[in-house]
Amino acid sequence: MTYVIETRGVRKIYNPGKTSEVIALDNINLKIKSGDMVAIMGASGSGKTTLLDVIGCLLKPSSGKVFIDGVETEKLDEDGLAEVRGKKIGFVFQQYNLVHSFTAMENVAFAIRLLGKPKDEAEKKAKNLLELVGLGKRIDHRPSELSGGEQQRVAIARALANNPKIILGDELTGNLDMKTSKIILQLIKELNRKHGYTVIVVTHDPKVGNVCNKIIKIQDGKIIGGEK
Ligand SMILES: Nc1ncnc2c1ncn2[C@@H]1O[C@H](COP(=O)(O)OP(=O)(O)O)[C@@H](O)[C@H]1O
Ligand SMILES: [Mg+2]
Repeated sequence: MTYVIETRGVRKIYNPGKTSEVIALDNINLKIKSGDMVAIMGASGSGKTTLLDVIGCLLKPSSGKVFIDGVETEKLDEDGLAEVRGKKIGFVFQQYNLVHSFTAMENVAFAIRLLGKPKDEAEKKAKNLLELVGLGKRIDHRPSELSGGEQQRVAIARALANNPKIILGDELTGNLDMKTSKIILQLIKELNRKHGYTVIVVTHDPKVGNVCNKIIKIQDGKIIGGEK
């Protein structure tokens, strides 16, 4: 069976050999199937962001293997990694990282234009994606004219610009109040269930685990168990 994401014996050591050396990931073995919605949970400093960045091909592991959709990423150079990221992965972060002078539509359309699409096509697709995340009525609003939850919706629409297979979220509800967090998680769940995106969210918030069909616990860079 080919997994959408598989890691084998992944280790990540920051500042190796120095007094500041940190073993951030230690022998991480993960198998994630297409259509899974997985929460990676652990305390602050446990290695969650490092793991997500390794899975997202933003960071190379010090050793071990990462397969994305069957592709062994260890063998790829920077361009190859960028291609995997660009084709397969949509990222959502705690900070929405929107361009403040752009409207919601322009923020999403910009990401689509970067893929080489013409303006009219990009704008049409951006509108569709904003409708998909429930923001069809706010497409001409700038980030400062949107609530935190609405800004995160724009960021989610932007993450879908490249038709990714995988959505990776790093503490994506970390800046939101409880009620809004729940709504955003439901949106992510819907994208997973109805549209088949494979989702991995990392968080220290136990509530996030409730909407996932698998929970992986990490402590000091090691997987200490799973649930569900
Ligand atoms: N760029 C870096 N250089 C050195 N140490 C780092 C770096 N990034 C993270 N770390 C360390 O690696 C460990 C895991 O960090 P991180 O993956 O950010 O954890 P989490 O996201 O769970 O809070 C922590 O001890 C952190 O201090
Ligand atoms: Mg983190």
